[in-house]
Amino acid sequence: MEKLIIKGGIPLNGEIKISGAKNAALPILAASLLSKSPIQIGNIPHLQDVTTIVSLLGQMGVRITLDERSGIEVDSSHLESFQAPYELVRTMRASILVLGPLLSRFGKAEVSLPGGCAIGTRPVDQHLKGLQAMGAEIQIENGYIRAKAKKLYGATIVMDLVTVTGTENIMMAGTIAKGQTIIHNAAREPEVEDLANFLNILGAKIKGAGTATITIDGIDELGGGTYSVLPDRIETGTYLAAAIITRGKIKLKNSRPDLLESVLLKLEETGAIIDTGLDWIALDMQHQRPRAVNISTAPYPAFPTDMQAQMMAVNAVAYGTGIITETVFENRFMHVQELQRMGATISLKGNTAISTGCDQLHGAPVMATDLRASASLVLAGLAAKGETIINRIYHIDRGYECIEEKLAQLGAQIQRIP
Ligand code: UD1
Repeated sequence: MEKLIIKGGIPLNGEIKISGAKNAALPILAASLLSKSPIQIGNIPHLQDVTTIVSLLGQMGVRITLDERSGIEVDSSHLESFQAPYELVRTMRASILVLGPLLSRFGKAEVSLPGGCAIGTRPVDQHLKGLQAMGAEIQIENGYIRAKAKKLYGATIVMDLVTVTGTENIMMAGTIAKGQTIIHNAAREPEVEDLANFLNILGAKIKGAGTATITIDGIDELGGGTYSVLPDRIETGTYLAAAIITRGKIKLKNSRPDLLESVLLKLEETGAIIDTGLDWIALDMQHQRPRAVNISTAPYPAFPTDMQAQMMAVNAVAYGTGIITETVFENRFMHVQELQRMGATISLKGNTAISTGCDQLHGAPVMATDLRASASLVLAGLAAKGETIINRIYHIDRGYECIEEKLAQLGAQIQRIP
């Protein structure tokens, strides 16, 4: 199994380009199931999760052509299978995103239940409740969600809680349902809006994406089109946190500062000097040690849970005490024990982590447990004295494109070994 070896203590310095957003690319690829016509999608990141959804679509009979320059061309005119098997869903829970499109266009879908994962139980009841309100018959059998409907009908759906992929599943299903669908308490994440923009290019009639109420007027069928995925705000935030923890100075190009307001404000509280343009963000730590920050995660536009682990690493070496409260997932503190092995002082009480910053973390062998937890260990390794060896890095490859190349470009000493 591959490992990353990091020799820490070098302030990051330089410029890199941010990749397309994983959490927009996945629903957009799933949404291409809704149309018979060819679709071109650009700015798709090279990630393991993208490979997984491409395999899933390929197994169903979708024809996918990869072109280094123009991106991915998807042709879903003929499908042979309507199933997302356990083997793929197990490795990527976002596979649930094919449920709404399959059911809406083909009237049937069979998707393995995702089950729990390292960060919590993660049920999909809101996805199912919404689709049932639109007329789907759903049964859970042998670990599979089996759904069918002659036709889906528009409905008014009030989500019991804010769910990103839940909102996306219902929104996709609504595009070619009969009549109007209204989603109240919808997720407002930029990736939900990006998916709506993509579907609207194909002819969908979606209004209000990016707000808590989304209205979808169903049409008979979607056409083809060309779209480019928005930049990854979590990748952006991770590199900014890496510059903070190493007291460095970096510039991120192909980024969208308008999508990161809550994150940038919090990063400024650490003492970072941040400058932004339309599509770039520069951060300078002026060689200073960061100050600890208090964070409470919540759905967009509040501070994202996907940046929580990285900020825990920053707090571990900061001046003062920082309190981090995780409100989105019940068990998202797996990185704490590994950070403690590198010398961090963190105490856990329920969904709150209290860190007292130390002068210096020390390199150690550590284990990545999930995607963002592994990012926090990379950050800690970049700041630590000596060598950090990160095991199980397949988690990182799910969500960070060429992480060691990009960090090396910023001057880090990082190496992947078999
Ligand atoms: C998405 C993101 C993930 C991010 C998360 C929260 C993608 C592919 N993944 O995941 O990176 O961490 O949003 O911002 O976009 N819940 C239920 N019932 C449901 C659905 C969700 O109880 O039917 C709960 C979950 O267990 C969790 C909370 O709602 O506690 C939010 O989860 P959700 O927004 O659905 O996360 P994902 O869409 O899976």
